[in-house]
Amino acid sequence: MLSYRHGFHAGNSADVLKHTVLIFCLDYLAQKEKPWFCIDTHAGAGSYPLLEGFAAKNREWEKGVAKLSGMKVQQIPAALTRYLELTGPDGMSYPGSPEIIRRLLRKDDRACCFELHPEDFAALKTLLGGDRRFGLRHEDGFAGLKSLLPPPSRRGLIFIDPVYEVKDDYALLPQVLSDALKRFSTGTYIIWYPLLHTDPRPAGAEMPGEAASFRETLLNLYEGNRLGVEFYTAQKDSPPENSPRGMYGSGLVIFNPPWTLKNALEETLPFLGLAMGIGKDGWFLCNHEAP
Ligand SMILES: C[S@@+](CC[C@H](N)C(=O)[O-])C[C@H]1O[C@@H](n2cnc3c(N)ncnc32)[C@H](O)[C@@H]1O
Repeated sequence: MLSYRHGFHAGNSADVLKHTVLIFCLDYLAQKEKPWFCIDTHAGAGSYPLLEGFAAKNREWEKGVAKLSGMKVQQIPAALTRYLELTGPDGMSYPGSPEIIRRLLRKDDRACCFELHPEDFAALKTLLGGDRRFGLRHEDGFAGLKSLLPPPSRRGLIFIDPVYEVKDDYALLPQVLSDALKRFSTGTYIIWYPLLHTDPRPAGAEMPGEAASFRETLLNLYEGNRLGVEFYTAQKDSPPENSPRGMYGSGLVIFNPPWTLKNALEETLPFLGLAMGIGKDGWFLCNHEAP
């Protein structure tokens, strides 16, 4: 059941949001000298050509990163300036999360990437196999995560970017997260999810806590500092054309975010809304502080 290929979606608006947050959080960890450890549970191929192959078919990047590339630098919020600096939009290729992590790794930092698709894993190995700071695993990231927690340095970021085409992901992810949080409650976790017109969760997967949305299910798993952010690319009530999954946006839940992230997103989201969304108010942000 591995039909999903991230190449079709590389550089789209969901990538812009998730990678902007990933870069912001890793930059924050790098403010201290002590090494950090980053785990990418669903890594993809690591880098994607934009003008050939999958990405050239639907050209989703044209409605994502390409919308930002032409903007004047002085108009762009700092978090996006940094995102553009790191993803280096040359119009030819787009870095996936593993390559972004590689660009931020220092000498003693370490990372581990899980990827199940044989071809994407082979591409990842070609890209990063020679970098001894990376562990690359052709394994299930949900199952493998706990074996790496807590990281030896006790400073770390877990990036969880599943496909959600297998409906079990909705039930499995809360279990995996609860377990991970028991082992490593001080880590920064970034979890991505799609916003779809029809609730894709199988009956019962909205538990625990009888949450009305997957966002709430995730937020309810942790009592410490957490942020929820959603970005809309279409109106919720009118399914976008040419979107087989009926996606009207995407969201992130972040546990233990940098304290500066909320303000950075408040500055960034209206800008993204105008550049590649439904307008300057087309986003949602909620912030929960530890009791
Ligand atoms: C959304 S893509 C990842 C994109 C990548 N994180 C990025 O930001 O560039 C999800 C990837 O997870 C892989 N995958 C699906 N189920 C998996 C699992 N259980 N464990 C590891 N990888 C999985 C898919 O083959 C796909 O390449």
